[in-house]
Amino acid sequence: MQDSPSQPAAHGLNHVAIIMDGNGRWARQRGLPRIEGHRRGVSNVRAVLKVARELNIKYVTLFAFSVENWQRPAEEISSLMGLLEFFLERNTRELVKNKVRLRVIGRPDDLPEGVRKKLDQALEATKDFQDYVLQVALNYGSRTEVLDAVRAISEDAAKGKVDPAHLDWPQFSRYLYTADIPDPDLLIRTSGETRISNFLLLQCAYSEMVFTPVYWPDFDRKHFIEAVENFRQRQRRFGKTGEQIKAAPASEPAINR
Ligand code: FPP
Repeated sequence: MQDSPSQPAAHGLNHVAIIMDGNGRWARQRGLPRIEGHRRGVSNVRAVLKVARELNIKYVTLFAFSVENWQRPAEEISSLMGLLEFFLERNTRELVKNKVRLRVIGRPDDLPEGVRKKLDQALEATKDFQDYVLQVALNYGSRTEVLDAVRAISEDAAKGKVDPAHLDWPQFSRYLYTADIPDPDLLIRTSGETRISNFLLLQCAYSEMVFTPVYWPDFDRKHFIEAVENFRQRQRRFGKTGEQIKAAPASEPAINR
């Protein structure tokens, strides 16, 4: 394990985003209530973060609760919120010990007060760390994020702070929840579903994607390393040709209009 990711990791993987899916099916397969799957899912978050750290991955983004998840049964929502509170309470000290900055993307203001309190404490306790970032998507949806950005840009345009005629992607992206965070290099979704479900739609424009049939509670070190190996086999072209990339590896799209 390295102390600081000041050198890019050898696998070229700076940011991994994960859609942790399959908790419910994991539980059903075992004749257990869905919440038991979520409980196992939460304990797996710790284990996977440990592997990410070992692999020297600087940014990890986890899709914990979507804007669409409010449509689930009230009992399941309340259990998920309880688990989130538990996770934050149990892990804030660990984040501080490991110098990991917590970040939230989404609309956290709509979360229950208990979760917000624990979140605020964890955000405050970790705000000065720079080497590693755990970004948790909570009450998050890409379309909501775009609407929030457009509203803020419109307000700034009305104040004369933004010139709509000259708005470009670098400027627009600073209004997203993920401002200052590089785009994911790799998106992993567990459970066999092969869709993005309104998660980081813009930020994943050039991300490599790995879909695994493994349910989230079973997604372990071996599966994570397999996904990273899979990523290493990819040639990222960012719109260029394979020959151009061989001549000079590209790291991001050259045109961002
Ligand atoms: C998807 O499984 C999982 C969720 C909707 C919640 C994911 C949340 C956690 C694992 C815990 C909270 C996260 C942190 C960072 C502590 P599903 O219920 O959709 O499973 P199914 O598709 O099999 O029904």
